[in-house]
Amino acid sequence: MDEKKLAQLEKSLSRRKFLCDAGKFAAGAAVGISTIGLVGCSTNTAEPPKENDGEKPEAQQTAAPANQGLPEWPWPYKKLDPEKVAKRAYTYYRKGGCMYAVAGALIDEMAEVVGYPYNELPTNMYKYGGAGVAYWGTLCGSLNGASAVINMVTKDFGKIINELLTWYCEFPFPSDRYEEYCAHPGQVTTVSGSPLCHISVSKWANAAGKKIHSDEKADRCAKLSGDVAAKTVELLNAALVDGNFTPTAALNDKGEFEHCLSCHTGEESTLDNVIAKQNCLDCHDDHNK
Ligand code: HEC
Ligand code: HEC
Repeated sequence: MDEKKLAQLEKSLSRRKFLCDAGKFAAGAAVGISTIGLVGCSTNTAEPPKENDGEKPEAQQTAAPANQGLPEWPWPYKKLDPEKVAKRAYTYYRKGGCMYAVAGALIDEMAEVVGYPYNELPTNMYKYGGAGVAYWGTLCGSLNGASAVINMVTKDFGKIINELLTWYCEFPFPSDRYEEYCAHPGQVTTVSGSPLCHISVSKWANAAGKKIHSDEKADRCAKLSGDVAAKTVELLNAALVDGNFTPTAALNDKGEFEHCLSCHTGEESTLDNVIAKQNCLDCHDDHNK
C-alpha cells in the first residue's frame, strides 16, 4: 500500500473509533464475547470491564473518567521502586509465566502509583509470551513484556529497549535479590549472550544440571523476570523522570561479531541482508576465517 493511501486510512480510522466500533459489533453479535479492553467508548454504558484474574491491586486511585476515551499515547509514567516491582514480578511468574510476570508487575504497580488507565488493563493478555511465545523459545517473554510496557509510556521506546536487551545479554541471571524469600536460594548464574528464551534457558539448565520442567528452573525464570522488571524500572526512571538516561549499548561494541554487521546489517552496509543485533556466531561460522 502506498504511503498516501495508508495515511488516509489511518486518518479515517482513529484507534478509538475502531475499538468502539469493534465493541459495538461484538456486543451486537451477542455471543457472549467479552468487551474487556474496549474501555472508554462513549457507547459503553455498562459497568467498566472487570479484571478477571483477581490480581489487580485493590488500591486503584482513579476510575476511568466518564465518556472519555483512552488517553493519547504515550501514557503517563511516574517513578517506580525497582525492588518492589522485582518482588511483584517474582511472585507473578508462577501465575502466568515470564511475560505476564513482567508486564503484569509493571502495569499493576502503575495502577497503584498512577491509576487510570493502567487499572483498566487486563494483564492476562500478556500470558502468550511465556517460554518465548507459546513454547517456541523465541524472544524471552520477560523482554517481550517489558518492551510492551516501555512502548506504552514513551515514543522513544527503541533506545530503551535496545539498552534493556543489551543488558540482558550480558547479565548473569538470576540475581541474588530474592535470597530471603525464594524457593531455591544460591542458584548458579549464567550469561545468555542472547535475548532468546531458548539460549537463555538451555545455557542455565545445562550449567545448573536441572531439567526445564524442574522447580529450580521455574524459580530461576521467576527471578530473571524480577530482574528484568527492575532493570526496566531503572531505565524508565532515568529516561522519563530523572532525565539522566545514558545509553551504553552501541552497535559497534559487539566484539567478535562486530565485523559481520559492517557487511550484513544496516542501510550503510554493503549487503544489507540481515536484521540482527544478536551474536551471529551463536548460529553461524565466520566465513572470513
Ligand atoms: C567483508 C564483508 C563481510 C563480512 C565482514 C562478513 N560477511 Fe558474510 N558474506 C559476505 C558476502 C559478500 C557473502 C556472500 C553473499 C552472497 O553470495 O549473496 C556473505 C555470505 C554470508 C552468509 C551466507 C552463507 C555463506 O556462508 O555464504 C552468511 C550466513 C554470512 N555471510 C554470515 C556472516 C557472519 C556470521 C559474519 C561475521 C562472523 C560475516 N558474514 C561477515 C560478506 C561479509
Ligand atoms: C539464533 C540463530 C541466528 C543468529 C543469532 C543469526 N543468524 Fe543468520 N541465520 C540463521 C538461520 C537459521 C538462517 C537461515 C539459514 C538458511 O536458510 O540456510 C540464517 C540466515 C542468514 C543469512 C542468509 C544465509 C544465506 O544462505 O544466504 C545471513 C547472511 C545471515 N544469517 C547472517 C547473520 C549475521 C550477520 C548475524 C549476526 C548479526 C546472524 N546471521 C545471526 C540463524 C541465526
